[in-house]
This record gives sequence, structure tokens and C-alpha cells, in this order.
Amino acid sequence: MQKIDSILIENRIFEPDETFRLKANISFADYEEMCEQAQNDYEGFWGNLARMHLDWDQPFTRVLNEDKAPFYRWFEDGKINVSFNCLDRHLHELSDKPAIIFESDEGTVTSVTYAELHRQVCIFANGLKSLGLVSSDRVIIYMPMSIEVIVAMQACARIGLIHSVVFGGFSAKSLSERIADARAKLVITADEGMRGGRAIPLKSTCDEALTHAEVESVERVIVYRRTGGNCQFNAPRDIWWDDVIASQSPVCEAIALDAEHPLYILYTSGSTGKPKGVQHSSAGYLLGAILSMQWTFDYKPDDVFWCTADVGWVTGHTYVAYGPLAVGATQVMFEGTPTWPHSGRFWEMISRHRVTVFYTAPTAIRSLIKLGPDLPLTYDLKSLRLIGTVGEPINPEAWMWYYNKVGGGRCPVVDTWWQTETGSHMIAPLPGAISTKPGSCTRPLPGIMADVVNEKGQSVEDGSGGMLVIKRPFPSQLRTLWNDPERFCHVYFPKNFGGRWYLAGDSAHRDSDGYFWIMGRIDDVLNVSGHRLGTMEIESALVAHPFVAEAAVVGREHEIKGESIVAFVVLKGKMPDEAEADKMAIELSCWVTEQIGSIARPDEIRFGENLPKTRSGKIMRRLLRSIARREDIQSDISTLENPQILAQLSRASGNTIV
Ligand code: WTA
Repeated sequence: MQKIDSILIENRIFEPDETFRLKANISFADYEEMCEQAQNDYEGFWGNLARMHLDWDQPFTRVLNEDKAPFYRWFEDGKINVSFNCLDRHLHELSDKPAIIFESDEGTVTSVTYAELHRQVCIFANGLKSLGLVSSDRVIIYMPMSIEVIVAMQACARIGLIHSVVFGGFSAKSLSERIADARAKLVITADEGMRGGRAIPLKSTCDEALTHAEVESVERVIVYRRTGGNCQFNAPRDIWWDDVIASQSPVCEAIALDAEHPLYILYTSGSTGKPKGVQHSSAGYLLGAILSMQWTFDYKPDDVFWCTADVGWVTGHTYVAYGPLAVGATQVMFEGTPTWPHSGRFWEMISRHRVTVFYTAPTAIRSLIKLGPDLPLTYDLKSLRLIGTVGEPINPEAWMWYYNKVGGGRCPVVDTWWQTETGSHMIAPLPGAISTKPGSCTRPLPGIMADVVNEKGQSVEDGSGGMLVIKRPFPSQLRTLWNDPERFCHVYFPKNFGGRWYLAGDSAHRDSDGYFWIMGRIDDVLNVSGHRLGTMEIESALVAHPFVAEAAVVGREHEIKGESIVAFVVLKGKMPDEAEADKMAIELSCWVTEQIGSIARPDEIRFGENLPKTRSGKIMRRLLRSIARREDIQSDISTLENPQILAQLSRASGNTIV
């Protein structure tokens, strides 16, 4: 392995294991044939798949409408219900099959069959109707991992409510911004969540969010009792989950909705301070979820599937709340963290529940390597047959460890590249067809026209870096940004590429085998422990502090988290001395946690009298990145207004926050 100009050259290649290959859903010949079909008859290709994998209330006659590009519409005259496709259609054959095996933070296991889950979803959906909610109303879900959160999401889908799940780690302020932007009528939360033995005060955070001036739309708050811990209860606004479902009928018809009916909004970070409300459709989104379950995860009816992501992120939407249910899988769902009460928790759970397909993030893998490099070997992981990763580039060392120590050298590793916006996997090895290389997400899924291009839109030569684009619309892509169609157009479909190619926001290169290697974001978005965070979001939080005059945030490589957050701050008064700086750094990091959530907490804060700026006043982030990484500054600094600032910021040792 060698690094040339930050392009990783990795020569190891792993063929699909023979026993795996012989049973795989998709062979290499199938893969090639599907890619060719998509090339030759793009709409025919997707139309056939949509007819084959989805149950329609009314069949569609038109596959793709590009008239209002980039507002593409798929299967638009068809009618469908996502919840019906996840539950009802399995009932005649799978009613007694476990749908979810839930393990709580403390280790209590509860499981529901498809029939039971269906019943709970119908009852809760009737409860939502009884509160007066009607199709297209928005519902914020701020809940811990639980069977109930899936019930809530599926119940919304069943009656056409648009849910927006907010990760339980977000602060009251972040929650209030999302509620206000979505103009939600209802919030569903819990008294508390439990993670790593600690209670997370969800209801009180929610109460605080609802005091923010901009939140006026919320009429009711449903509270699920998870811990029975203390929380305020403000009747008549608040209503207990148990009271919502009491005496509701278990019969609730799934409404036939337009294929393009918004299934959900999920907020994600972009390059401005304001999170983007990514809006997904019903049919196209679900098709992407199902195909990737079949193709990338090689889904088999006797699988026990486990995706460790929280439902607050897109991975938890597609590969916990929708994909596994849509194919009728049994899945494990986990409330807690990988390291509590011990760092073998994941391996113990795989062994306990006989998990066959396991999907997690590189950051979890790296932290577990550190805590117990040989720990997986002490558990029986023989049930595994496929393991996957998502959310950030995986370094070849972590890939090899995962392959050998967790997968026993026998399970294909699927490194899946995709985004909140793409809804489902875009580039990933189909495990029986594509050989893998550690660190590469390999080749696009059939029908995904990915390419790497330069500023002019020309495909770059193999081995050179460029921007990752997808040149044809695909069913599971976002439909728009909620409340912000203009931002949708200019961020994702820039004019210099004709306004039609989807710009992913990542840089990548392709090797001579046509394999893609993701290099990182091209915008001001950081990826910290697999979580997307906009530098502007953190900067806005910092400057909202009364003592802060200016702030700039950059990323620095981090062994476990992938990237860590380094903030450069100019205070309003005089430069702080060392002791003051230490205190101030702690104060500001708590402040950021309060404003956004602990995932945005800076790892280091450096203070200066100013920030390095060009003569036109633009902050030179490139230089700040070099300082943060403690690199020598080699670039041209002749345009810099205040060169002495560099010395000051470099000298400052930085206040590491522990
Ligand atoms: C990064 C998560 C390298 C990428 C599903 C992307 C990856 C962003 C990979 C999306 C991967 C995701 N290899 N980088 N396999 N998967 N990324 O929206 O920068 O939370 O743009 O979706 O994560 O993050 P998001």
C-alpha cells in the first residue's frame, strides 16, 4: 500500500468466497447483464424492478418524468403504501416470523413478529388519527432506539403523515429548528432514553425546544414511557403513548398514496449554517431500500440482519425502519452503545442472536480494534456470512481487521458509499459478483451512472481525483429540500454541469479496474465518527456566544473518529492568557454541545487576536487546516492581510478538551 498525493493505492484484492458466490443472489454475469440493461433501456430497467419488488395499489404507467428536471418524478401515476409493503404483504406467509429482536441498553430482549408489529402499527396509526392528524401533516420523532420508534415511523407511513426523525443526541436548539422548519403538528418523544448506562433526558430537551419562539406549530406531544424517570408532563398538550393506543382498533387500512408522496424529511448538514431538510419519496425510496437489501446484503429469508445505526440517521431509516421490513427480514435492533457494559458487546450480541449480516460504521470498528484487537476471536461469530460498513472511508488496516477478526476471513466486506440524499446504496460491491479491495467501495450498483469529473464536467483519467457525480436520476434520490427548492437545485444540480447531474459533494478517483475510492468532502462538511457536520453550523454556534467575536472551524484527521473538530476563535476582549484560555475552551465546548449536541463538540480550541484573512476579508481555511494538522505552511501567503497571525495561532498549543 502506498500514498501518492493523498490517493491511496491498495493492491490487495479479495475474490468472493466460493461457497458464498455459489449461493449469492447476484452473480457477476447477472451484474453485467443488469448494467447493460440499464444502459440500453434505462426506464425499462427501473420500471421492471419497481413492478417486481413493490406491491402497488394502482400500477404506474409512466416510469420517469423529467419535464421539470431536476425535480424528477418516478412512477408518478402509481399508488402505493410503504407500510403495506413493509408489513401487510408479508402476513400470509410470515406472520409468525420475528420482525424485530430488540435488545435494550441493559440487555433485556423483546421481540415482535410481523403479525404483532402490524397490529401495533395499526393501533398507533388509529391513535394518531384520533388526535386529528391528516395526510401530509409533519410529525417530529425524537425517540430512543426501540420497537416503538419503528411503530411510530411505520404508523406515519401508513396514513401519509410525513415524519422527521431527530437524533436523540441533538440539543433543544437543534430540535426546535427542525420542528420549526418542518412546521410539525406533533412531536413523539420518550421520557428518557438509555445509552451506555446513562439516561438521556429526551422529554425535558423536547420541553425546552418547545419554548423557543419560532416553534408555534406543535399541538400535541406523545410521550413513550421508556424508563419511568422523572419528567414534566404538561397536559393537555402532552399525552402518554399508552393513552394514545388505549382502546384503539387493530384494524387500520393502509392509505393508497401517490408514489411521490413524501415519506419523510431528514435534516442533514450542508455547507451553510442551516441544516437541509432532505425530502424522500415513497415508491422510489422504498425500491432503493429493497434492491440494496437484495443486492448488497444478498438478503436470504433465514438471515438475521443487524444494522447498528440509530434511526436518527439515514442508515437507520433505510436499513432499520424500512429496508429489512420491506423484504420480510428478521432484524436485531439495539438501544445501547458498542462499548457498554464492556467492549465485546457487539460480538456478544452477534453470537447471542446468531446474526448473519452485520452492518456498522468504520468509526465503531476503529474504536473496537483499540479496545480489544483479539476480542472478536473469543466469541462465536460463525453465524456471520456478510459484513458491511457505511458512513465514512474505511482505512485498509481497519478493513483487514474487520475481514479477518470479525468475518473470520470468510465473509465478504461490503463497503457501501451513499448519502442521506441518495436514500440507499449507490456504490458498493455486490458480494457474490465483485471482488473487493480494502478501502474501496468498488463499483456502482446496476443502474447507477456514477462518474468522476473535473470542473468542466469531463471524466477524469483513471487514478486522478475529481468530483463524484451521478449522471442520471435514480429512484431513491431526494426529491427536494423541504422549504428550499432553490437550494436543492444549486447545491445538487449545479448549472455548470447542465443542471442535471447529481453532485454528491465528495471527491473520488477511479482505478484502472473501474473501482471507486472516496477521498473526502469537497464542501465545508466534516465527517466526525460517521456523522455529518457543517463547519458553518459549528461556527454559528460559537459566534452566538457573548464573548466570541469570530470563529472558524476545520477538520483534522483522527485515528478513531476519522475527523476531529478544531476551532479557531477570536474573543471580543483581549487575548486570554493560558489559564483563561483553558477555562474559555471548556466553556465554549459546553456551549457548542448545548447549541447543537455533543457530536459537534470541538476537540481543540485555539485562540488568536484575529484569523488569517485575504485582503478582501476571506478567511483562509486552507492555512487553518495546516495549522490544525500541525503541518508546515508551504502555500503562498502573499495574499494574506495579517501574516503575523499565523505565528500566533501556530504557537498556541491549542486547548485540548478532555
Ligand atoms: C461519507 C451516510 C467513504 C461521504 C450513509 C458522504 C462515505 C457522506 C461512505 C454521507 C463510504 C458515506 N466511504 N465515505 N462507504 N459512506 N460516506 O449523509 O462523505 O450521513 O458524502 O449518509 O458520508 O453521509 P450521510
